[in-house]
Amino acid sequence: MIEKVLVADDEPLMLRFMSDLLRRQGKDVTAVENGALAIQKLESESFDLVVTDVKMPVKTGLDVLKAVKTLHPGCLVVLASAHGTVESAVDAMKLGAFHYLLKPFSPEALEGLLVKCEEHLQLVKENGFYRENAKGARLIAHSPAMKKILSQLEKIAKAQASVFITGESGTGKEVIAGAIHELSTRAPFPFIKVNCAAIPETLLESEFFGHEKGAFTGAHMRKIGRFELADKGTLLLDEVTEIPLSLQPKLLRAIQELEFERVGGTRPLQVNVRFLATSNRNMQEAIENKVFREDLFYRLNVVPIHLPPLRERNEDILPLAESFLERFCLENHKPLKQITPQAQKKLLQYPWPGNVRELANVIERCVVLDFDPSIDADHLYLDSSLAAPKASYRGMTLHEMEKQLILETLTANHNNRTKTAELLGISIRTLRNKLHEYEEIDPTHSDERM
Ligand SMILES: Nc1ncnc2c1ncn2[C@@H]1O[C@H](COP(=O)(O)OP(=O)(O)O)[C@@H](O)[C@H]1O
Ligand SMILES: [Mg+2]
Repeated sequence: MIEKVLVADDEPLMLRFMSDLLRRQGKDVTAVENGALAIQKLESESFDLVVTDVKMPVKTGLDVLKAVKTLHPGCLVVLASAHGTVESAVDAMKLGAFHYLLKPFSPEALEGLLVKCEEHLQLVKENGFYRENAKGARLIAHSPAMKKILSQLEKIAKAQASVFITGESGTGKEVIAGAIHELSTRAPFPFIKVNCAAIPETLLESEFFGHEKGAFTGAHMRKIGRFELADKGTLLLDEVTEIPLSLQPKLLRAIQELEFERVGGTRPLQVNVRFLATSNRNMQEAIENKVFREDLFYRLNVVPIHLPPLRERNEDILPLAESFLERFCLENHKPLKQITPQAQKKLLQYPWPGNVRELANVIERCVVLDFDPSIDADHLYLDSSLAAPKASYRGMTLHEMEKQLILETLTANHNNRTKTAELLGISIRTLRNKLHEYEEIDPTHSDERM
């Protein structure tokens, strides 16, 4: 139960208002007029609740919050601010604040919050529910497509063959790769990931294979590559199609022979590694367009797994939403919320261009920002251009409609042609031809490259 409360605010009237109110609720209140004093108090005493202003000189409310999180992780923090923006509220909640109060607020608002704090602590105490569930994210699979994949996963994991996981961005490719490693006999050994899209081309080779001291300018020390680090374990080549064509033959050789040399090295090294790879591209096109070598693909694609986009597995949407809700309420120290039937309907109707990752973000935002006990349809921040079909095509020719749809989709996806083609169900090549055609008529689109 909440007994001791620390209140910090540099405005004397506000400090008085909050302290008096909390005292009237029977709390043992310590009031301080700045963040530095609050932190000092926290270093010598423990509190059940801290209510702090955000904007204070020298040490801010966020500093106080951080101090609480390290010194007294069980203590709840409520931030109060007159300069509240959505972003700072989100930041505060992510840092672990229990709630956020916008000044000026009524006595009832603070009293109501106090009740919530008490309820929350009660819940934590009663069933240890929070800690139990905080362990490891579960893999949710309710749709027939995902159930089928899961039913094969154990068998796939036990084999030594390479697995190639395809699917749009955010469909869960890394989650599946992680599960394969965990279910395999290699589980006690390292699971090493290379994000091929994120590492600059020039560094990739030494990232894979390591380098010797002095191998090139800047190589001050020997570096152990990911192939070596993954020995006895699993190496995930994430977004493997982003590897430059020039490095692909070397990679293929290393995968086939399980033997390679560090950059600048002379001695071949042997490893025992299992390979998993992912890509969000259409592989047939990547090969046709000479982005990815066919031989390397066949070597990696011994067992193919394709994850359908979320919009094609509706049965997963609500279970995923529920599971994210539970996780984010927990992480943010909030009582578990409900999703209203209207909100459920909206979730089910939305096409989820960013797939599971987008769903997770939408739910996290709701938990962080929304203080109601339930999540309703208007709490969901969805891309409104997709949530409800707009654009009237009346009076247009079929050709004009097509052009408008293509250009709109392209804009909505930040000129990502792969994504656009995928969403429209056409090949990249068709998309490129169409764009060429529009360019010839209207050269303003000519800055878009492949
Ligand atoms: N089936 C699932 N069950 C639970 N969480 C999932 C599932 N699929 C994806 N996620 C979550 O969605 C996010 C995106 O997944 P990720 O594997 O990174 O996607 P990808 O690699 O395909 O872009 C992650 O936060 C992940 O934990
Ligand atoms: Mg990924």
